[in-house]
Amino acid sequence: MAKITFVEFDGTEHSVDAKNGSSVMEAAIRENVPGIDADCGGACACATCHVYVDNSFIEKVGAPNDMEQSMLDFAENVESNSRLSCQITVKDNLEGLVVRLPESQG
Ligand code: FES
Repeated sequence: MAKITFVEFDGTEHSVDAKNGSSVMEAAIRENVPGIDADCGGACACATCHVYVDNSFIEKVGAPNDMEQSMLDFAENVESNSRLSCQITVKDNLEGLVVRLPESQG
């Protein structure tokens, strides 16, 4: 279990409890966090679950794999800390994770 905070583009924060083994996207959907649409249901095929990982968690979250990176190549406003939240698996060491949503998902 890890508490994850989603920060909307306008600064509104949503803190949710996420179960180990689920994805960060699934935790957002379960709690109706606005801005995470997850149109493809977590298949790494839509990029509507794009988030910016807080710099203090970059190493723990890790880098995108090749499939995710190719999807990010087509997403808007991609930064070096961009990830698709459906591809981040929740673990205890992500306790306190903060992710921010891009303007295009505001
Ligand atoms: S939910 Fe579609 S890419 Fe993450």
